[in-house]
Amino acid sequence: MDINRLQNLKNQAISSILDSKSERELEQIRIEYLGRNGEITQFIKQIPSVKDEKRKQMGILLNDTKKAIEDAIKNQSSIISHQSSVINSEWFDITLPGLRPPQGHLHLITYAIKEIAAIFEKIGFNRVAYPEVEWDWYAFEGLNMPENHPARDEWETFFIQDLSSPKYGEAVLIPHTSSGQLREMEKIKPPIRMLNIAKCYRRQYDVSHIPMFYQFEGLLIDKGINITHLRGVLDYFAKQFFGPKRNSRIRPHHFRFTEPSFEVDVSCGICEGRGCKLCKGGWLELGGAGMVHPQILKNGGINPEVYTGLAFGWGVERTYIMKSGLNIDDIRFLYNNDLRFLQQF
Ligand code: FA5
Repeated sequence: MDINRLQNLKNQAISSILDSKSERELEQIRIEYLGRNGEITQFIKQIPSVKDEKRKQMGILLNDTKKAIEDAIKNQSSIISHQSSVINSEWFDITLPGLRPPQGHLHLITYAIKEIAAIFEKIGFNRVAYPEVEWDWYAFEGLNMPENHPARDEWETFFIQDLSSPKYGEAVLIPHTSSGQLREMEKIKPPIRMLNIAKCYRRQYDVSHIPMFYQFEGLLIDKGINITHLRGVLDYFAKQFFGPKRNSRIRPHHFRFTEPSFEVDVSCGICEGRGCKLCKGGWLELGGAGMVHPQILKNGGINPEVYTGLAFGWGVERTYIMKSGLNIDDIRFLYNNDLRFLQQF
């Protein structure tokens, strides 16, 4: 009995079984090797003629070969039946258009920043960026708020531990973009038209306050700048951003770095200035503004006898939610990242 041929037959059978794709093919292979006249069966028929001492050994070899082929057939049969059930249950029409993934959009505040920057760009204000981790000098001291001055309290500042400079004091997360005023004056000689948009940080959290928010700060310094220019810039912005029916007004206020200082209001978009529940009197508060204090010009290396300036600084989020028709009554919605809210815009 040719043992090598038996081994070859076994290998051939198993490789055909693994290649087979259907039950019919498998049955043909079974007949070819294990059927009544199959190749392995022919070997089995020769057993009686094998010499006594080799018969037992040949018997075991043939049984193992037969079992290996039968097991391979069984295995392949269950693979084929699983594949056909998957194909039948998950049939799909490949000509159908695919599922489109949901399309996102920029965040509302990113849109607002782009819009604000474009409005000021039209009247020559250059967008700038200055440090958000800043020295005390730029955030407070250089803006007429010396150490321990009570005016600092309003800014509810985050201080950076173990970081200070002998010349400029402690490091803070900027509580307002006004720190950019001194940076700009140090960098550029007048005329200056700066628009500084940056993240600001304060220890505040309620319906109208968040600990991280954006401010946009305008600074205009030139010869002969006065309050009428400030009024003109504010009104231009109110009409461009909120619409032609909206007006702005200024009310006296106090900031240490502007003199005189003002709070700026915009007429209410819901009642158009007649007075309603939201605005209580027809006006909504936008932010601070004023004429740059002469000491600040000096601190920035500019001669206040020659130049004067105007400045304003408002919150992007608060300004944005005052647009007509938005009805956002809690500033925190903007950053909760709730798609049910964000998808409405
Ligand atoms: C200032 O920060 C001044 N630096 C503004 C200024 C600039 C005055 C230039 C004069 C000249 P105030 O603290 O009022 O001012 O903040 C300005 C605006 O920032 C507020 O009106 C509001 O719109 C926004 N804002 C302040 N704190 C928060 C907060 N926690 N969350 C959201 N918005 C805030």
